[in-house]
Amino acid sequence: MHAMPTHQMPAPAMPAAAMPTSAELFAPIARDLEAVERVLRQTLDSRQPGVARLVSHLAHYRGKRLRPALLLLTAKACGGVSPAHHTLAAVVEMIHTATLVHDDVLDDAAVRRHASTINAGWGNQASILLGDWLFTHAFHLAASVDARACRLIGATTNRLCAGELHQICERGNLDLGEDAYFDIIDGKTAELTACCCRLGALYAGAAEAMIERVANYGRCLGVAFQIADDLLDLIGEERAAGKSLGTDLHQQKLTLPIIWHLAQAPAERAGRVRQLLESPGNHKREKLAPELEADGAVAYARGRAEEFAARAAAELAWLPPSPCQAILEQLTDRVVHRDC
Ligand code: IPE
Ligand code: IPE
Ligand code: MG
Ligand code: MG
Repeated sequence: MHAMPTHQMPAPAMPAAAMPTSAELFAPIARDLEAVERVLRQTLDSRQPGVARLVSHLAHYRGKRLRPALLLLTAKACGGVSPAHHTLAAVVEMIHTATLVHDDVLDDAAVRRHASTINAGWGNQASILLGDWLFTHAFHLAASVDARACRLIGATTNRLCAGELHQICERGNLDLGEDAYFDIIDGKTAELTACCCRLGALYAGAAEAMIERVANYGRCLGVAFQIADDLLDLIGEERAAGKSLGTDLHQQKLTLPIIWHLAQAPAERAGRVRQLLESPGNHKREKLAPELEADGAVAYARGRAEEFAARAAAELAWLPPSPCQAILEQLTDRVVHRDC
């Protein structure tokens, strides 16, 4: 028997006790994350009762806070956290949340962050406006830092929205290629994680070369994160993920394992998958997942995620060793082997 290529080997199972919780992992920035929560609470406050009800739903609609954590960890690893970092970390989380509120409309999703989506509770119209409200508050808040932060965050949000638009334009295109897929996820996900790391390093006074390395860490991490997210959509568990899964399939948004399968599988098998993707109904995951696991499509996608995670980790060699640098390194493994 031939040795399996490393990218096809299953990840070693990590005993639950050995995997630190997010709170444990982020302990060195816990006080900074609390400061970010205070900025979020102060900014997302409305005396208008209808808006206040939506905002109060958002308040216990808390995700992993990965983007603020990236910004704060890179800041600390590059020199130190300042009040500007707290503000900017709140800004990036607001932008992220706005994109999720809108994304759940696009995906017609019912569950997000272990709660009902805004569209499920209040409808699409309120969701669009709440997403807009979050975007405008984010930019207003960014302006309290300086024009440079606004420009960077503005350029990132432009690219993020272009990535979502690119994806929606390619919806239903079963001939989508890998290059287009990578362009989509680089825009909709990696651009923001790169920006978080750039802002962390920039406002900690890091040298230009270091800022570029750290930003590239964030970009590669974001790509790995989105490939893993796309795998969750296909083979993850809703209860652990805390969000509606299978929506990529339902919306005919092609992701890496499917793109690989359609290009690599023998014509008959690829034809079956094509037919399934084009068929009506909402239960494609059950039929597709075994097919894609059996022919190595899932392993291929996991291998590509690991490749980007390794690229991210390599950029960290530029940072001086520190507890936050070590956490950034742990994140490269964690984003690929996660269930939520
Ligand atoms: C979800 O991001 C959207 C993607 C880019 C895949 P997260 O998984 O970080 O969402 P929350 O913030 O933890 O809910
Ligand atoms: C879109 O990605 C999230 C954004 C980056 C805007 P997904 O559609 O994969 O996100 P989930 O899976 O719904 O969280
Ligand atoms: Mg979605
Ligand atoms: Mg997804």
